[in-house]
Amino acid sequence: GALEVPSVPDPSLMTRSVYFSLVVPTYNEGKNIRQIVEILSRLLDQALPNDYELIVVDDDSPDRTWEIAQQLMSDYPQLRVMRRQTERGLSTAVIRGWQAATGQVLGVIDGDLQHPPEVLIQLLQTIDLGADLAVGSRHIEGGGTSDWGFVRRMLSRGAQLLGLIILPHVIGRVSDPMSGYFMVRRAAIAECLMQPFGYKILIEVLGRGNVREVAEVGYVFQERQEGESKVTWRQYVEYLLHLAKLRSRGRISRLKEKFPIARFLRFGLVGFSGVFVDMAVFYLLRAQLGLPIARSTILSAEVAVINNFFWNDLWTFIDVSRRQPGIRPRLKRFLKFNIICLAGIILQALLVSLLHDAFGVNEFASKLVAIAIVTFWNFWINLKLSWRV
Ligand code: GDD
Ligand code: MN
Repeated sequence: GALEVPSVPDPSLMTRSVYFSLVVPTYNEGKNIRQIVEILSRLLDQALPNDYELIVVDDDSPDRTWEIAQQLMSDYPQLRVMRRQTERGLSTAVIRGWQAATGQVLGVIDGDLQHPPEVLIQLLQTIDLGADLAVGSRHIEGGGTSDWGFVRRMLSRGAQLLGLIILPHVIGRVSDPMSGYFMVRRAAIAECLMQPFGYKILIEVLGRGNVREVAEVGYVFQERQEGESKVTWRQYVEYLLHLAKLRSRGRISRLKEKFPIARFLRFGLVGFSGVFVDMAVFYLLRAQLGLPIARSTILSAEVAVINNFFWNDLWTFIDVSRRQPGIRPRLKRFLKFNIICLAGIILQALLVSLLHDAFGVNEFASKLVAIAIVTFWNFWINLKLSWRV
């Protein structure tokens, strides 16, 4: 699915905002995590005292990297740890970390010490000088790969060349598009829908962000001392698919995502089910229980609203509800849904009288048009307020 980083940090994070958020993605880095946290903290305590955060995003590593990281939190107050148990993959880990970040500048560094930490300072300076994106590069002056064999070098260069052919305007902007060591201004990627995929998150940032100025800083890719690389031939295939995906779609159409058709259809179907619930309950109250018509109308409408909320929360917007579990958030969504539906009924009445009385439209046609408009209204406002997609 598509993910995006908000333009302002999520207020519910309740943490104080900082200038710089550095994500450290890890998978089985138990032997490296202490050292990298220690080095990064020492460096950043100097450069940005109390104005940075380290966010370790671990995918439930079997070697319990997350646990070691959590234990370190008492010694390193700027450290935060995310343990992901349902999602996996390097690129989504980085975006998820950034989504939880409070910084204006968002960075990423490998958790295995292959990216020399000191380079962070230069990358930060580069951003200070006005760059939107500062990339650590192995292919400019000061950069290199310690002692890679011929085959590995060729594979890396071959992949880059292919990238240049398939996506020249993206890949051509940097000398080292495969780099996983960079930082970017939040504003340059905020609200850009990303479909993080595979290993190469930088390509996604370049391909879908609004990055104006790009700058590079050379670094030497260190040999891994502990643990092992997770790269296999699969990452090469994924890289090619990633390029193809970016090429064929370019930027994901904002309209399509901002007005999700599939969701709207589900919402419409749920609304349709509500009509039957409404009628059935109305019948029950009137014909069976003999309640007054006004009370029956209100009660049956409310039951329909409850029905619709139930299905929307469990089906139409299930992805969102899953992210905000618990009774309280659900109750909150329900109250909002209720108020919005109520406003929708009032809006419908206004529209019918406007169309019918002021424009002389046939009353049934007026009602039909009003229902259509209010369905859009209900969907749109609920999307934005109740489920906040
Ligand atoms: N959370 C999480 N989930 N982290 C992961 C995953 C994952 O599925 N897979 C890898 N990582 C973490 C590793 O623990 C490490 O900290 C970092 O991502 C890089 O993974 P490596 O397996 O060490 O990759 P590499 O050494 O081949 O590095 C290549 O990819 C890097 C990342 O894009 C090179 O191209 C580097 O330049 C690049 O920085
Ligand atoms: Mn590595």
